Amino acid sequence: IPQGEALVQAILDLKKEKNAVILAHYYQPPAIQDIADYLGDSLQLARAAKDTDADMIAFCGVHFMAEAAKILNPSKKVVLPDTQAGCSLADGCSGEGLRAMRAKHPGALIATYINCNAETKAESDIIVTSSNAETIIRSLPEDRPIIFAPDKNLGAYLMKKTGRDMILWDGTCIVHEAFSMERIAQQLAANPQAKLIAHPESEAAVLDLAHYVGSTSGLLNFVEKDDAQKFIVATEEGILHEMQKRAPHKKLIPALVFDESCNCSECFYMKRNTLEKLYLCMKYELPEILMDEELRLKALKPIEAMLELST
Ligand code: 13P
Ligand code: SF4
Repeated sequence: IPQGEALVQAILDLKKEKNAVILAHYYQPPAIQDIADYLGDSLQLARAAKDTDADMIAFCGVHFMAEAAKILNPSKKVVLPDTQAGCSLADGCSGEGLRAMRAKHPGALIATYINCNAETKAESDIIVTSSNAETIIRSLPEDRPIIFAPDKNLGAYLMKKTGRDMILWDGTCIVHEAFSMERIAQQLAANPQAKLIAHPESEAAVLDLAHYVGSTSGLLNFVEKDDAQKFIVATEEGILHEMQKRAPHKKLIPALVFDESCNCSECFYMKRNTLEKLYLCMKYELPEILMDEELRLKALKPIEAMLELST
């Protein structure tokens, strides 16, 4: 495997040779973000995957995101640098589990966060991302109960924001649930001019303290446009790379987690992808996301319902 600049060049050469596009999430390692054709949040990446006319999509994110790309654009070859790039939310919720919940609450609509696998999507009525969840929940018929899966923190936040009661699946993001409200309160006290910004996968105690709550793209826009010069950032630390690029003179402080010995908010799934693995997956066109067509069509329906409702 080439190294350094030669590795970057080899990836660019493969991109040309294979007519590939590199899509990357804001939590990816900085070197991957820098080489990506398109950097975005889950919704933006799903749209970019749907609209691309490249022959191959090298998806630098986690498995459910690459799977969503395949569901939306099945004629393209979708490769993921590391298939072990999972997600605690997706791993904790199954299609079978949702079927059981539906049986327990007949008549309920199932709104599912995009952080789930294709089988789970296939059992859902509509998918949401953190960018459009509030709009979508507000648009659901008032006379139907709502089951929200799998993130109970995002679900509780949406209940508060929209006033809609929802039956919540008991899932969490292992990265965002690790933020410590007490330690963040100390950071705010030590930086009285700073604003706390948080992703809605964080626990209610952290969200209640936040000046702004939003998706990864929402957080980036807020830092860029807000007058404050200092921000305490409660989300996966990979986002600081793009955030600092967009607001070079602003001070960005990663929010603290419970574990005082580590002080980091890395998603170890996201960080399984490396430039070397990206090179290998583009060269050998493996590992590839493959999906049963019947399952794909079932999973596509609730994603399309989401896309129709999001601007
Ligand atoms: P966004 O849709 O806000 O990018 O979030 C994705 C994610 O996995 C957050 O942990
Ligand atoms: Fe999943 Fe959390 Fe990692 Fe996002 S940060 S991919 S929700 S484990």
